[in-house]
Amino acid sequence: MVTINDNYLKLKAGYLFPEIARRVNAFVESNPDASIIKLGIGDVTEPLPEACREAMVKAIEEMGDRATFKGYGPEQGYAWLREKIAAQDFQARGCDIDPSEIFVSDGSKCDCGNILDILGKGNTIAVTDPVYPVYVDTNVMAGHTGDADDSGKYGGLVYLPISADNDFTAKIPTEKVDIIYLCFPNNPTGAVASKEALQAWVDYARANGSLILFDAAYEAFISDPNVPHSIYEIEGARDCAIEFRSFSKNAGFTGTRCALTVVPKTLKGKASDGSDVALWGLWNRRQSTKFNGVSYVVQRGAEAVYSEAGQAQTKALISFYMENAKIICDRLSEAGLKVYGGVNAPYVWVKTPDGMSSWDFFDKLLSLANVVGTPGSGFGAAGEGYFRISAFNSRANVNEAMDRITKNLKV
Ligand code: MLT
Repeated sequence: MVTINDNYLKLKAGYLFPEIARRVNAFVESNPDASIIKLGIGDVTEPLPEACREAMVKAIEEMGDRATFKGYGPEQGYAWLREKIAAQDFQARGCDIDPSEIFVSDGSKCDCGNILDILGKGNTIAVTDPVYPVYVDTNVMAGHTGDADDSGKYGGLVYLPISADNDFTAKIPTEKVDIIYLCFPNNPTGAVASKEALQAWVDYARANGSLILFDAAYEAFISDPNVPHSIYEIEGARDCAIEFRSFSKNAGFTGTRCALTVVPKTLKGKASDGSDVALWGLWNRRQSTKFNGVSYVVQRGAEAVYSEAGQAQTKALISFYMENAKIICDRLSEAGLKVYGGVNAPYVWVKTPDGMSSWDFFDKLLSLANVVGTPGSGFGAAGEGYFRISAFNSRANVNEAMDRITKNLKV
């Protein structure tokens, strides 16, 4: 019989969001009249910007005409899209990123996992705790960890706790780690990192030959002008960091699928013979072999984000969700809950009342208010006692959810 990848058996039963969906479905089955409001998974609800839709309709028409029809595109993404990304997302912020260093893809989640294809097996890997579960689970799948302990921590990973005590900014490890996952604005805590904090990480990475995997999927939600949007705003980052970005949250592409990964050509790793090898070439090879690129139509839609109309429309979308975040923060604070995040990120990180566990709070909100959030412990042991509320929903649902929560919660 065929053998399997045993590493999968080390994983906790289900990925966090499907597990939440399973529990919600079970609740709905026994409470068919409940009207559930979902503020759990960070999935967008508002329609695609008009500029993106128009561009995609036009692209579909081009696909219907022999003269303008497109077959396979470049695996790395069309140059016209990569040029706009380089100019507007990076060069406009003083980042020295060339279009050839950008790889357009179908998602940051996929890229965060796929990047492990080009990295060695013996690396020491650091993640924050709590953390976006994909960073951990993909390393488990790749056989980079031992088993999980009772608290869900995997052997072999270095966990860097983040909490209100350290402003949700992990302390630089005292030991040497080879790979560090950083996510700012942070999922799940909604925290951001200052330029100084990121400079300390880049300095550490350069001193130790480490690689920073920087997830900037939520950069568009930053409102504070002093907060960096890209790791490449930090001096030296080209030599130690890969950055992941996405159109999912800023332009509502969660169902449309488009993202990008930046791999600077100056970034190197060590081969087992001790030689230095550019990661760009390896990622390019990986993508050209295992990926055929994002569809022409979707790339045209993503390109429209950079048009004048697209910029105005995506800004309006972001403001809409951030107004939701403000409502959530204000209403829960008024109700006596301690809240974090929600200012430069679409996630509000709530301390559960009376020392309640994250899953107990989840059950309480689900049964009393019919509102779904995400238990903090699902993001790691140090997330226990917290709860994440996503600002991605309609205004009416956010208002209704806050009415129901505050009515049912006596803090
Ligand atoms: C989340 O809720 O954490 C995000 O939606 C996950 C993702 O973007 O994959």
